[in-house]
Amino acid sequence: MTQYTCDFNLKDNLIHLNHAAVAPWPVQTQLAVQAFAEENVRQGSLNYLQWLEHEANLRRLLKTLINADSTDEIALLKSTSEALSVVAYGLDWQAGDSVVIAAEEFPSNRILWQSLEQFGVTVRQVSYQTDDDAEQLMIHACDKTTRLISVSAVQYASGRRTDLEKIGLHCEQNNILFCVDAIQQLGALDFDVNKVKADFVAADGHKWMLGAEGLALFYCRKKHLTTLKLHQYGWHMLENPHDFDATDCSPAQSARRFECGSPNTMGIIALEQSLLLLESVGLANIEKIILDNTRFLIEQFSNNPNLEVLSSTEPARLSAIVVVRHKQMPSSELFDYLKQHHVLCAPRGGGIRFSPHYYTPRDKLEQLVKLLAF
Ligand SMILES: Cc1ncc(COP(=O)(O)O)c(C=O)c1O
Repeated sequence: MTQYTCDFNLKDNLIHLNHAAVAPWPVQTQLAVQAFAEENVRQGSLNYLQWLEHEANLRRLLKTLINADSTDEIALLKSTSEALSVVAYGLDWQAGDSVVIAAEEFPSNRILWQSLEQFGVTVRQVSYQTDDDAEQLMIHACDKTTRLISVSAVQYASGRRTDLEKIGLHCEQNNILFCVDAIQQLGALDFDVNKVKADFVAADGHKWMLGAEGLALFYCRKKHLTTLKLHQYGWHMLENPHDFDATDCSPAQSARRFECGSPNTMGIIALEQSLLLLESVGLANIEKIILDNTRFLIEQFSNNPNLEVLSSTEPARLSAIVVVRHKQMPSSELFDYLKQHHVLCAPRGGGIRFSPHYYTPRDKLEQLVKLLAF
């Protein structure tokens, strides 16, 4: 058992290597949600005003996690897809505008931009798989018509880490908006919204941040807060949400303007606890352990002549995700075999995706390596 495993309570025989899909909750998250359930059962919303403190605290934790300038730039939405949609449908597109994305993006970060073709927007897709300097290809794909680049910080199916700073600098210098899907990075690898010069960031909490599904961070840089058009309306987005008799119904000046109705308090309490745990371990520490795990798996898999590592092995490209293929066995069969041996992973990117977190004991990774030694 590593010093961190005791914060979790996974079944002993389970090899959980699927944080890039849906993460297990830490024990302290379970206890906080149980306490909230108990409170609801026993006294309903008697302490509703205290619930709001969790919301404020979560905004502070997320601000710190991405190094935003202010909690006013943080909205709590229901998913990455919803946050990206707030951007895509909040901008004022003109026929002839273009958007540049990576061709291998998760559907949410692709079909959304393609849906803008109905307004005469062109979507240029740049393949990330063939070229080591795909960022340069993305930059080359931009021209005077380009309004926005949208890219994942880490690609979901290959684990390839994007050089966000390079793209962000180009965007800044050329007046192009920069939108980052950071769901495969936040909670696992360091991320600084100002360093990468992102205008918008979207990330649900149920992967590396170890929260529950249904609660996502949406970061909107201050200067864009009031320029994104609003498409959802409700009491919670107003400047004074609890003054129901107010005649002035102006939307909040902060990113709360994107949160139309009642907050997901249970999800907020869960993510707050999970982020408190990550904060106590320290993101730099977490990143170091995760990259050590990744290097260990790549090295072990590379020693097996029947395995092919599909993820990039370039140091700057490493993330928490390793994808591997067995040369003698179709990935669907390999996936079934691993499942029978209690390995939780995912068939992705033409192979099997393994995504351990910082607390994953090394002996679980060694067990995996042994299971693949044929
Ligand atoms: C890169 C990426 N973006 C978006 C999503 C979907 O996120 P959500 O369900 O929060 O919309 C996923 C889920 O796997 C993903 O890997």
